[in-house]
Amino acid sequence: MSEMPKGSALPQERRVVTAIPGPKSQELAARKQAAVAAGVGAVMPVFAARAGGGVLEDVDGNSFIDLGSGIAVTSVGNSAEAVVRRAAAQLELFTHTCVMVTPYEGYVEVCEELARLTPGDHAKRSALFNSGAEAVENAVKIARSYTGRQAVVVFDHGYHGRTNLTMALTAKNMPYKQGFGPFAPEVYRVPVAYPFRWPTGPDNCAEEAAAQAIDQISKQVGARNVAAIVIEPLLGEGGFIEPAKGFLPRIAEFARDNGIVFVADEIQSGFCRTGQWFACEDEGIVPDLITTAKGIAGGLPLAAVTGRAEIMDAVHSGGLGGTYGGNPVACAAALGAIETMRELDLNAKARRIEEIMKPRLEKMAQQHGVIGEVRGRGAMIAVELVKPGTKEPDPEATAAVARHCHQAGVLVLTTGTYGNVVRFLPPLVIGEDLLNEGLDVVEEALASLG
Ligand SMILES: Cc1ncc(COP(=O)(O)O)c(C=O)c1O
Repeated sequence: MSEMPKGSALPQERRVVTAIPGPKSQELAARKQAAVAAGVGAVMPVFAARAGGGVLEDVDGNSFIDLGSGIAVTSVGNSAEAVVRRAAAQLELFTHTCVMVTPYEGYVEVCEELARLTPGDHAKRSALFNSGAEAVENAVKIARSYTGRQAVVVFDHGYHGRTNLTMALTAKNMPYKQGFGPFAPEVYRVPVAYPFRWPTGPDNCAEEAAAQAIDQISKQVGARNVAAIVIEPLLGEGGFIEPAKGFLPRIAEFARDNGIVFVADEIQSGFCRTGQWFACEDEGIVPDLITTAKGIAGGLPLAAVTGRAEIMDAVHSGGLGGTYGGNPVACAAALGAIETMRELDLNAKARRIEEIMKPRLEKMAQQHGVIGEVRGRGAMIAVELVKPGTKEPDPEATAAVARHCHQAGVLVLTTGTYGNVVRFLPPLVIGEDLLNEGLDVVEEALASLG
């Protein structure tokens, strides 16, 4: 078999050479249907062959502009040089020891980086895991152990994962929770400041939502029973909702005043995605604990809980862990990803992506009444689609836009509680021409709605 060119060597171009899906993807789809559980769905009807920088090539030779990054994971680009170099070197040394059996330096180095990069200059500790959901579960375990309390407060439109506890923390039923109950107890959901859909309008959204949330916690749960408040500073699966300014600081203050551990879930929004290392920095929030995953390791599975030393160290020895958590190859990849973020100043790149995307999308919003709102920060940008002249969600138009983009060689994702948000999560290394070409296709897709 001839050697396949590396992902990193792929031409950065959009190229559609077959129908989408092409014949080889169709063949694989039939095999998938026969061998893979139906519950494992797929957004795109094509199978990946290689990916590098800002493009993904399928098995039929089509090259897609990647505006999804495998759901905010390959922020440094697919097969980034430093990620491949460091992970490959680690693969040659050892693949696994289990950190609970024989620790290794890479694990410690990632935790040292997390202490440096996360907000706040207090003493910190970290623990590493395999997935975002696992990190959130462990943040709750740690908060319960530290406070001796049980209740966990989460928010409307929040998403925290698909394990039993994190399903309970997640707001949306379909597809995440339907038929999978019963869910973990002692989880309470309160309103979030969603400016576009706040009943009295965006102006007083922050104060009103915070007052309602605090009232519900105080009256229905009792602040002294709450171990943790868990919130995404920029809500991902809920529809890239930016809580109205002032909401997060008010909730963080309430947590501080009541001895509640404030957990920022930055699994989707972290690691340069919003133009800073973490989205909560925007309002000067210093969380007690922060959960990270996705962008941290350039595509290898790694997740972390980082936080105040006294909270993290409240758990007895052996209370945190797992066979694979902080795998050495994933740690090496994370160090490569962080090196890339620093060297290429990917925070600046994310801000540049916002500078390009937002004005273009705002212009499209003026021309197409289907766009209700353009929002997001850095390279975490979305459009919420509605029936023109109303705020009624339009999931059908959203699906049609995504389908048009896919057929034309642009990988976009949809999201949102109402399934009516097209979200853009380009790799931060994407070329500006490629990004603009992707937006041209989005514009065509909107025009095609008629
Ligand atoms: C904010 C947030 N938390 C938790 C998770 C769960 O992460 P994972 O899919 O790695 O378990 C996600 C995944 O999308 C997420 O966006």
